[in-house]
Amino acid sequence: MDVKTYSFVPHGDDRGQLVALEEYKDFPFAVKRVYYIYDTLEGVVRGHHAHKCLKQILICVHGSCKIHLDNGHETEEVLLDKPTKGLYIENDMWREMYDFSPDAVLLVLASELYDESDYIRDYDEFKKFIASKEG
Ligand code: TYD
Repeated sequence: MDVKTYSFVPHGDDRGQLVALEEYKDFPFAVKRVYYIYDTLEGVVRGHHAHKCLKQILICVHGSCKIHLDNGHETEEVLLDKPTKGLYIENDMWREMYDFSPDAVLLVLASELYDESDYIRDYDEFKKFIASKEG
């Protein structure tokens, strides 16, 4: 599967690190929404959904977590374990987030405002949605 990840270049100096991200320059969309996930309990799996029209960049800015991606045909696991690594997820991709370290902070930049009607939260429905787009 063609998984797009970014390696952001930090502005490091003798004080530490700073990562700056600009829409359309460092990732290919404008940001309308930011959310972050933290204090995730051991064993928790989040996500379990796909979006019909949403672009996102996921960055584990502290700690680590894993992202399971499924495009309806292939799956891939991506480890996010550094604040300079970004994972780009577009439409039509089932995702699950898991294996959160206790200190994990998962930051998400999103191209649209929160819209529950954009979610596909049932896996069978997701598979049918993918098949209908391809058929
Ligand atoms: P949920 O969709 O369960 O998160 P995840 O898919 O990451 O496991 O969202 C948890 C709650 O937060 C749910 O009540 C919806 C709400 N929420 C918002 O209000 N705005 C947002 O941008 C997001 C992502 C969730």
